[in-house]
Amino acid sequence: MDVKKIAVLPGDGIGPEVMQEALKVLDAVQSKFNVKFEYKHALVGGAAWDDYQTHLPEDTLKICRESDAILFGSVGGPVREQDTDKWRGVEVNSLLGLRKAFGLYANLRPAKLYSSLAFASPLRSDISEKGFDIWVVRELTGGIYFGKPKGRTGDGETEAAFDTMIYSRAEIKRIARVAFEAARKRRGKVTSIDKANVLTTMVFWRQVVEEIAKEYPDVEYEPMYVDNAAMQLTKNPQQFDVMLCGNMFGDILSDEAAALTGSLGMLPSASIADGSFGMYEPGGGSAPDIAGQGVANPIAQILSAAMMLRYSFDMVEAAEVIETAVERVLNDGYRTGDIWQEGGKNTGTSEMGDRIVEKIESKNS
Ligand code: IPM
Ligand code: MN
Repeated sequence: MDVKKIAVLPGDGIGPEVMQEALKVLDAVQSKFNVKFEYKHALVGGAAWDDYQTHLPEDTLKICRESDAILFGSVGGPVREQDTDKWRGVEVNSLLGLRKAFGLYANLRPAKLYSSLAFASPLRSDISEKGFDIWVVRELTGGIYFGKPKGRTGDGETEAAFDTMIYSRAEIKRIARVAFEAARKRRGKVTSIDKANVLTTMVFWRQVVEEIAKEYPDVEYEPMYVDNAAMQLTKNPQQFDVMLCGNMFGDILSDEAAALTGSLGMLPSASIADGSFGMYEPGGGSAPDIAGQGVANPIAQILSAAMMLRYSFDMVEAAEVIETAVERVLNDGYRTGDIWQEGGKNTGTSEMGDRIVEKIESKNS
């Protein structure tokens, strides 16, 4: 029997409780698909601080290195505690640390408006009722996030701070290929987001993406300025299939696209390295305000596990079984607070997990 090793990093806030539901779902898949998942739990974020005084301990990195994939929950603490050692820099240290350590350069962020959840979208109903299904493909280990030099200089009125936006040809090519390959399996369109009217880095970005586009004559290619893209997302999101972005623009536009679906608790993401290794995490944060109450929506974490099956383990059928189960549970009207709807069935975190497992195990799934 196939054995897959999974590093389980629940983290902070709602992380541990939604993670529990994802593991329940993976257990159900395990018996159905003749595979064995070996989970190794490790601490990250504030949860690691008390034992290690760091947000990303070497013990955790070791467990990740010995695994086939990382299933990540969320990190971050309560607003009023932001300025304590335990929480300062927790997201940057944990997430950027893992991305860099494992070369997770390709970030896939699906933003799909489920027809049963169109009511939750902040878009006007004549726009939202058409639905949309967008993939933001974000470069994750380069650009202004990591460019050197970076720092502060001088003092008084001349004190200044700076970051460097830099992309190499190789970095642009490999993320562009991820986007074009993805589009090929979807609706065949890549919109490449840049700011080539102003930034030198982005003139180069557009030039290199254009070269790659020629390798994919079957895929429609369109460059778009980032400011226009932010606007187009609200006016006509249906025009987008795959949005190819550098690190910072992808950060911003993926949040916008996610917000337009109206349900952050529903969105998974994948951060992938060359080969099959990847890290899978929900789009939303640690939501400390509702942590421990058993009310958080576990669907983003569960769908992240499905992405792990598809991209790291090549278990496409199992991933589809999970995704279909989620849609069926939503169609049956089960709702956590974040996607609450008049007449819905009030469902807690662990009941939502149970309902999805039931669908997975039922004969006609
Ligand atoms: C994200 C987050 C991170 C980012 C932060 C928390 C470091 O916003 O994953 O989108 O900017 O990449
Ligand atoms: Mn972000």
